[in-house]
Amino acid sequence: MSGNIHFRSPEEWERVAKDYLDKGAFEYIQSGAGAEETLLANVRSLKKWTIVPRVLRDVSAIDVTQRIVGVKAPVPFALAPVGFQTIVHPQGELASARAAAAHNVPFIVSTVSSYSLEEIAEVMGDSPRFFQLYWPSDDEIALSFVRRAEENGYSAIFVTVDTPMLGWREQDKQNQYFPLRNGQGLGNYLADPVFLQKATVTKTEDAIKEVASRLFNATLTWEHLKWLRAQTKLPIVVKGIVHPEDAKLAVEYGADAIVVSNHGGRQLDGSISSIDALPAIVEDVKGEVEILFDGGIRRGTDVIKALALGADSILLGRLFVYGLANGQAGVEKVITQLKEEVEIALALTGETKIRSLQSGVVRKVTN
Ligand code: FNR
Repeated sequence: MSGNIHFRSPEEWERVAKDYLDKGAFEYIQSGAGAEETLLANVRSLKKWTIVPRVLRDVSAIDVTQRIVGVKAPVPFALAPVGFQTIVHPQGELASARAAAAHNVPFIVSTVSSYSLEEIAEVMGDSPRFFQLYWPSDDEIALSFVRRAEENGYSAIFVTVDTPMLGWREQDKQNQYFPLRNGQGLGNYLADPVFLQKATVTKTEDAIKEVASRLFNATLTWEHLKWLRAQTKLPIVVKGIVHPEDAKLAVEYGADAIVVSNHGGRQLDGSISSIDALPAIVEDVKGEVEILFDGGIRRGTDVIKALALGADSILLGRLFVYGLANGQAGVEKVITQLKEEVEIALALTGETKIRSLQSGVVRKVTN
């Protein structure tokens, strides 16, 4: 599927996406909150970590397979939940889910996906998929989403906890751009029987208003997580942890995994970069809970650094979304390129397996 797209560097993927997309859509994807300090820090801090490779260790047989929340994946990465994917390509999540499925890479469906979780499940067959919950202001709707995910072959629930409300997104304000306001990302709500019972939706504007009023939940606490833990047998992954105390609480409240993430710098600007947050969390909870990581990952060497610092696996955000500008083929090319790059980086680091990567192979430069 990806054979006709020639090699592209991460910068080139971004440039091509910028050419394809209108300004509002591209900047919605690319930008961060506030002055974008955290957006930049995610990438810059990764560069401050350097790999100190070992040599003469027979790296002829490389194995980059990894378990990701119960799924045996061929690569140590999955595609992050990203909403509104039809702003990038008319096929949106259907294209990226097909690409993920073609390579057996886990795909995470956002609550605000452009297609419903049922429609996406249908194109994925038995391929691995998870559902990401933006916990609505109404618990009954939250539970209905979880039930639908269970019924449609989603094998974990990612609860995003860094978004009790939307961050301060200056670029989108300037562009007057928010996909929901244009009627995007309503699919999961409009297919939800509980939501439809509660909302009066006779035209698109009603739907937008009704969904917008329920989309986020500023009252969320750890007690909600405890409640959800009692409602479902699926693994619960808490996405959006950067404080070690919260990582410990996630363990205490029954999470099976966490995602060390600052939402790609889109929520609290000035917050710690993901990679700088990782070591202290690893120190406190490694082994007690699976640790996923995202934020700023653009290259195979970034993947190696995060894994060496203790992440079990990685989520790709913007990188695959830029690939999606070229539809399914673009996402497939991003996946296959990154896989190859991870393999080479692992071998040149002097290791042959993901789990052999230890913090001793990275060093932080202070200048
Ligand atoms: C996101 N992210 C996100 N997270 C989430 O839990 N639910 C969502 O619906 C979305 N939507 C979304 C849209 C866009 C356009 C972006 C760029 C990001 C955050 C995403 O899952 C992930 O945490 C970051 O994208 C990781 O950072 P990088 O890889 O983009 O640097």
